[in-house]
Amino acid sequence: MITQCETSEELDQLVERARAYAKEGKVADYIPALGQADPNDLSIAVHYTDGRCLAAGDTEKTFTLQSISKVLTLALAIMDNGEDYVFERVGMEPTGDPFNSIAKLETMIPSKPLNPMINAGALAVTNMINGNTVEEKLGRLLAFVHDMTGKSHITYSSKVAESEFKTANLNRSLCYFMKEHGIIQGDVEELIDLYTKQCAIEVNCNDLARIGLVIANEGKDPETDREIIPRQISRIVKTFMVTCGMYNASGEFAIRVGIPAKSGVSGGILGAYPNKLGIGICGPALDDKGNSIAGIKLLEMMSARYGLSIF
Ligand code: DON
Repeated sequence: MITQCETSEELDQLVERARAYAKEGKVADYIPALGQADPNDLSIAVHYTDGRCLAAGDTEKTFTLQSISKVLTLALAIMDNGEDYVFERVGMEPTGDPFNSIAKLETMIPSKPLNPMINAGALAVTNMINGNTVEEKLGRLLAFVHDMTGKSHITYSSKVAESEFKTANLNRSLCYFMKEHGIIQGDVEELIDLYTKQCAIEVNCNDLARIGLVIANEGKDPETDREIIPRQISRIVKTFMVTCGMYNASGEFAIRVGIPAKSGVSGGILGAYPNKLGIGICGPALDDKGNSIAGIKLLEMMSARYGLSIF
């Protein structure tokens, strides 16, 4: 297990250049506890399949996964139920709408969410995780995170989870709409409880880069060669990261950066360059689409400098 990453003057300089863009963004505050983050923070860890790792900024500082957790629940739900079951209930197409939009749920027939990365789709996916209770389902998700990061102490922030639970009325309305249309089953409050806890799972940039590395490495832990996610499922997950991972900025991101990635409103960005490296970034100031503004700039600079586009 990597404990100490190398530093690089060049990466430090790119981080400082990218950090300048943070002032054009804004920290998310619709979940009140996220509003306390420092908008000027920016850090990155890059973990390679050959065991090397590079870091810049405060990579030990923790933040919550938020929407990045959707990548993990998707993998787990497919492992639990199979592809057919999952994609009968959630689509595979980008939306072009904001991450929390309800609009297409009503206009599409059948009324299933367009993809698992928007909130509606992610809530439907979380509803598919096996387990009898919220605790059991969350425990399985945390065990999955422990396997990917090699860190068994990772848990969720009850402060952030409670803050979102109290304010998650839009997500509740998505759930009730989907329950009416038979996409989800069971108690909506329990689903919101599980979803807000999954979004509040706390990691640092090194943990996130380690998750990206397993996804990049076709689902296997590169140190032990142990399979954590079946290869086909890691392929599906990476493809969704390309087409929907940055919401209605995914097309531009694919052109400017070209790395499968997933963002969260805490300012995290998970990246997975197939068979090569995993990336973990945190920069809490967001652009108007809910993606880390300095984080995206940093990835653009890195992609141009090191030729990182997969295309
Ligand atoms: O459901 C929500 O609104 C948040 N817990 C997660 C949204 C999110 O991270 C969108 N990403 N940029």
